[in-house]
Formats: sequence, C-alpha cells, structure tokens
Amino acid sequence: DRSIKIAPSILSADFADFGREIRAIETQGADWVHVDVMDGHFVPNLTFGPPAVKAFRPHVKGIMDVHLMISPVDPYIDAYAEAGADMITAHVEAGPHIHRTLQAIRATGKKAGVALNPGTPVEAVEYVLDLADMVLVMSVNPGFGGQKFIHSQVDKIARLRGMIGDRPIHIQVDGGIDPKTAAAVAKAGADVLVAGSAVFKGGSVDRPEVYGENIRAI
Ligand code: DX5
Ligand code: ZN
Repeated sequence: DRSIKIAPSILSADFADFGREIRAIETQGADWVHVDVMDGHFVPNLTFGPPAVKAFRPHVKGIMDVHLMISPVDPYIDAYAEAGADMITAHVEAGPHIHRTLQAIRATGKKAGVALNPGTPVEAVEYVLDLADMVLVMSVNPGFGGQKFIHSQVDKIARLRGMIGDRPIHIQVDGGIDPKTAAAVAKAGADVLVAGSAVFKGGSVDRPEVYGENIRAI
C-alpha cells in the first residue's frame, strides 16, 4: 500500500508562535510542513512573503512544502527557493505558461508541484507530468482554512491516479481533510494529505499532544 503522508498547514497555526508550532507538529508526527503562500490577488487572502518563509526554515526538520497561491508566480520562484522551500507548488491557473513555470522551479533544484483548483480538469496537467514531482488537487476553493470538502474532487483524484500510473509523482489533496474525507481521498489514490483545522483544532503549543492525536486520527 502507498504510505500516506500528513502535511499540516500552518495557516491554521498560532500566527504569533510559528517556530514553536512548527516544532510541535513535527514532534507530534507531521511528515511535511505545508506553508500556504497567498497574495491577495490569486486568492482573497494574504499570508507569507519570502522573509517569513526564511524565518520558518530553521524550525522545519523535514520537508517544507510551499504552496504558492500567487499570480504571477514566476517572478517569485527564486525567492521562495532561496528562503528554503523543499517543494514549490504553482497553480496551473496562475498564468499562461505552467510548463515554463515548472521548468523554472526545477532549475532551482527544488521539487516541483502543480496545483489544480476544484473547477480545473486533470487534463490541464497532462502535458507537464514529466516536469512534476507532485500534483496538488484542491478540495476547497483556495484562500482559507476550515472550509468544507468538495466531494466532486474524489473522482478527479481517481482519474489523476489513472493518468499518472506508476510514475513516482505524489498526489497531494488539500482542503477540508479530516478522518472521513481522508479515507475517501486515500482510497482514490492520494498519498500526501494536507490538513490545517483538523490538525490544530483543540490543541495549542502548550497542548501539542492534541496535535499528535489529530494527526494519527487522519
Ligand atoms: C487553502 C490552503 C489549505 C488550507 C487547508 O487555500 O491551501 O492548505 O490551509 O486548511 P483545512 O485543512 O482547514 O481545510
Ligand atoms: Zn495549501
């Protein structure tokens, strides 16, 4: 069976305590740390620039998975690579040249991800799979944590799995993941699950064991 990785999103963490929150989720079993970058243009919210991601880096022991919900994306790829991202994911909807964008991410030596919004068909990534280490399927409309899972994306994940076959490309699912929806997306073929509210709910840096319980429940 495909081992499922959990990537908590720090968008749901305490914004006044990222260093401690990152260390807490990794101690409690997070496989990756998912960093949601938002520009207030591609999505109606604003989060972390390269300086913030650079500040997170020393606290992340494992993979720092940077999800760029920004447009244009090309001008910022080098900055997020230098900030220490291990995986850089760009949205296929962020501009007209996703093939060139993925080439630019790979040129930095980082892993390259391509993301699909809920309304975008899997065909949109068919001709860039050779450049992708990961395909991110959004199961909410990007911009916020705590939203409801969009069930139509389960079929999309299964189709994507069929398209990828046994190539070493991760399928990451992002948005509304909890123990119930996790089972459905894992069955459909996802192997990296992002979860924000489902990991951080009920816990705190002073009660990190709750994060561990939440991670294990997914
Ligand atoms: C949404 C982000 C997601 C979000 C997940 O735009 O890309 O990573 O933080 O949060 P939950 O798991 O609460 O839906
Ligand atoms: Zn995300």
